[in-house]
Amino acid sequence: MSSVENDGLSRVIRYVEDEVPFEPGYYNEAYLQRRIAARMQRRNADSHDDYLGVLRGDDDERQALLDALTINVTGFFRDPDMWADLRPVVQELTAEQRSVTAWSAPCADGREPYSLAMLAADDPDIDDRSLDIYACDISEEAIEAARTGIYETTRTTDIGEELGPLTSYEPYVEQEDATFRIRESLKRRVTFETHDLIQDRPRTDVDLLFCRNLLIYIDAAYKEPLFETLQTALRPGGYLVVGKTETVPPGCRDAFDAVAKRSRIYQYTG
Ligand SMILES: C[S@@+](CC[C@H](N)C(=O)[O-])C[C@H]1O[C@@H](n2cnc3c(N)ncnc32)[C@H](O)[C@@H]1O
Repeated sequence: MSSVENDGLSRVIRYVEDEVPFEPGYYNEAYLQRRIAARMQRRNADSHDDYLGVLRGDDDERQALLDALTINVTGFFRDPDMWADLRPVVQELTAEQRSVTAWSAPCADGREPYSLAMLAADDPDIDDRSLDIYACDISEEAIEAARTGIYETTRTTDIGEELGPLTSYEPYVEQEDATFRIRESLKRRVTFETHDLIQDRPRTDVDLLFCRNLLIYIDAAYKEPLFETLQTALRPGGYLVVGKTETVPPGCRDAFDAVAKRSRIYQYTG
C-alpha cells in the first residue's frame, strides 16, 4: 500500500475511533484494513478519502462498518472434533461439582452456547441441571439475534448439517423448512449479555470458558492483557477453549496445561 493510501486508512481508522462505538486500537491493522476494504468495495469507494465522505454522510454505512468490524462468523458445533474432545470434560465437571459455570465469550449470534446447552441435554452422562451457561458479545445486534434464536439455512450455511453431532435436534429446535427456532426450554438454559472483553470487568469463578476466534483479530500487544482477563475469569482448575488456529501467548503458557492439544482445550493451573 502506498503511503498516501496508508494515510487514508489511518484517517478512516481515526474516524472509527471517534464516531463508531468500536475501539480499533486493540485490533491488528491487517484485519482492520481488510474489513474496511470490503465495505469500500460494497460502496464503490475508490479511495479511503472517498469512503470517509460516505461514512460522514450516511448513518447506515457507519452501522454497516461496525457490523463488518465485529465480524461474527460462527456455527453450531463449529470444529466438531473440539466438541467431541469436550464431552468428557463436561461429563467430569458436572459429575464432580454441583454447580458448573460456563461462559461463551464472545458468542456471536449464540450458536456456540446453544451448542453447549444441546450437548449437555443430549448426553446422558452430563448432568445438565448443574450447568449454568452465560454468553456475551460486544455486538448488541449479535446478542439480540442470539436471544431471538432463529437461524436460517442458506446457500452457504446448512443449519441441519451443523446440528449433526446431536442424536436428534428435534427436542431443542423447531424446524420449518429452512428456518430453525431454538425451543424456549433450551433458550432458558443460556443467559446472554453485551460485554466488551477488552474493556469490561470479566465474570469470575468460571469453570469452562470458551474464547474462540476473537484472539485472531486482536493486535499482538493486547493478546496477553486479554489472556490475563481470561485468567481472572477462570477458577484454578477450570478449562479454557480457544479457536482452532489460536494459541496461548508465550507469557501465559505456564498457567495452562493442554488437555486436548488438537482441540485447543486447556486447564488453568492458577
Ligand atoms: C468470529 S466470532 C466468534 C464466535 C464464536 N466464539 C465462534 O468461535 O464461533 C467473533 C465475535 O467477537 C466479537 N467481538 C469482537 N471484539 C469483541 C470484544 N472486544 N469483546 C467481546 N466481543 C467481541 C464480535 O462481535 C464477534 O461476534
